[in-house]
Amino acid sequence: MKFFIDTANLDQIKEAQDLGVLDGVTTNPSLMAKEGIKGKNNILKHYVDICNIVDGDVSAEVIATDFEGMVKEGEELSELHNQIVVKVPMIKEGVKAIKYFSDRGIRTNCTLVFSAGQALLAAKAGATYVSPFIGRLDDISTDGLELISDIRLIYDNYDFDTQILAASVRHTMHVIHCAKIGADVMTGPLSSIEGLLKHPLTDSGLKQFLEDYKKGN
Ligand code: G3P
Repeated sequence: MKFFIDTANLDQIKEAQDLGVLDGVTTNPSLMAKEGIKGKNNILKHYVDICNIVDGDVSAEVIATDFEGMVKEGEELSELHNQIVVKVPMIKEGVKAIKYFSDRGIRTNCTLVFSAGQALLAAKAGATYVSPFIGRLDDISTDGLELISDIRLIYDNYDFDTQILAASVRHTMHVIHCAKIGADVMTGPLSSIEGLLKHPLTDSGLKQFLEDYKKGN
């Protein structure tokens, strides 16, 4: 299972990278705005800065919602760095753009996916990744994890290569459930990764070991 971090915060990206378990980064326009990154040139530079910190894939989202605009932006983004994956929304023009990029070897992440039908369409168009937003489904009393299971079943039925990127992960249990279901990738905040470390028996056991060592030395 790949671990991506869902942020545009360079310090958090470095921290996750230093842990040695980071496989990539996802961003979106809201996450860029949260870090105060504004204006096209600053945004493009920020993507390159992120690529220079991590070894894996970095999703960079198009803003255009028409086919020509998405193609223009996506080609520009993909030329920035070989780690860039073009993030395209699940709309009609987006499906066409994913097919266009796929035919030309440009990798894509189909975002804002909330149903199995949308995920099927993304795979048919040749998306590299599909991003079902599980936290946002949970927010409206719909089971986000059930969607991950449904997509896993559909993709396995037909051997689709598209990787399931569980997005809008909010906490550690989302990560564990996604791993049990077989999501290829999860993207979440640093806290969802660091939460995996925690167990009170680890802390109390280590405390005891260190105390016993001190007694004998
Ligand atoms: O990866 C998608 C993500 O950025 C959305 O997360 O927490 O805003 O639903 P959230």
